[in-house]
Amino acid sequence: MIVVTGASGHLGRLVIEELKKRVPAERIVAAARTPEKVADLGVEVREADYDRPETLKGALGDATRVLLISGLDANRAQQHAAVVDAAKEAGATLAYTSAPNADLTEAALAADHKATEAYITASGVAYTLLRNNWYHENYEQSITIAPQLGAVYGAAGDGRIAAASRADYAAGAAAVLAGEGHEGKVYELSGDIAWTLAELAAEISAVTGKEITYQDLPKDDYAGVLAGAGVPAPMAGVLADVDVQISRGWLAQTPGTLRELIGRPTQPIGEYVRTLLGR
Ligand SMILES: NC(=O)c1ccc[n+]([C@@H]2O[C@H](COP(=O)([O-])OP(=O)(O)OC[C@H]3O[C@@H](n4cnc5c(N)ncnc54)[C@H](OP(=O)(O)O)[C@@H]3O)[C@@H](O)[C@H]2O)c1
Repeated sequence: MIVVTGASGHLGRLVIEELKKRVPAERIVAAARTPEKVADLGVEVREADYDRPETLKGALGDATRVLLISGLDANRAQQHAAVVDAAKEAGATLAYTSAPNADLTEAALAADHKATEAYITASGVAYTLLRNNWYHENYEQSITIAPQLGAVYGAAGDGRIAAASRADYAAGAAAVLAGEGHEGKVYELSGDIAWTLAELAAEISAVTGKEITYQDLPKDDYAGVLAGAGVPAPMAGVLADVDVQISRGWLAQTPGTLRELIGRPTQPIGEYVRTLLGR
């Protein structure tokens, strides 16, 4: 069985839909801590709570392939380790959604991914690391509110962001789960084209006909803008740090691996902006 954890999330749901195009639905399991949320997906549903290892043992027992979709909690490295243990016990190959250059980056956001990768490689489980670059969807709010504000705010300078849509990453994960030859691989997955926040502002201008500029702020000022928009202070600090890392080139790589896995170009950011703004 191919078991997808975190199947109730945005990415998880898309992965299940992509898997259904590639393998019989009877071979797919949607594993979630709230099984009701995935009852509509047309595949077997199992309870799998990262905080309750006994549910993981049951959910992954007959798995040949597992996708561990990273969580969001402060103790997620520990939570992920419990899923790795269950995958290893089942003798499954584990794919894990990580972050770009997780082993090298200084980005605070990537620390848990680095710890999880280290746990996976030390555990002896067969694995594939899916180091997803940024989602286009991370900019949903910035894009939708930009016409009102006349600006996109950030602290990324002219750093480039090789983002792709969640749907593209989901297709990449499904290709790995349903395919062969991916064991032991570390994939840096990104959009085909990396863009700056000034270029994002220009895309929004082109679509709306309004003048939108990019306002580059010092890190702490940008954290303040995020906090003012309702982001909890600790997360605002982490996200401002992400922008600083972007300014240093963290998200700039475009190796083309995601495009190869999905067999088509990734969605350009301009297309995402047009779709989001309904133009
Ligand atoms: N690359 C990027 O740009 C980027 C951006 C945002 C997030 N991420 C990472 O990628 C992951 C997937 O993204 P997404 O958009 O699908 O996020 P999402 O929609 O917030 O989904 C998160 C998923 O994790 C599940 N989860 C959280 N804690 C859990 C636990 N204790 N046990 C079992 N499941 C748990 C959630 O279950 P419930 O439905 O029960 O809450 C949900 O299914 C995120 O969790 C985050 O680690 C990456």
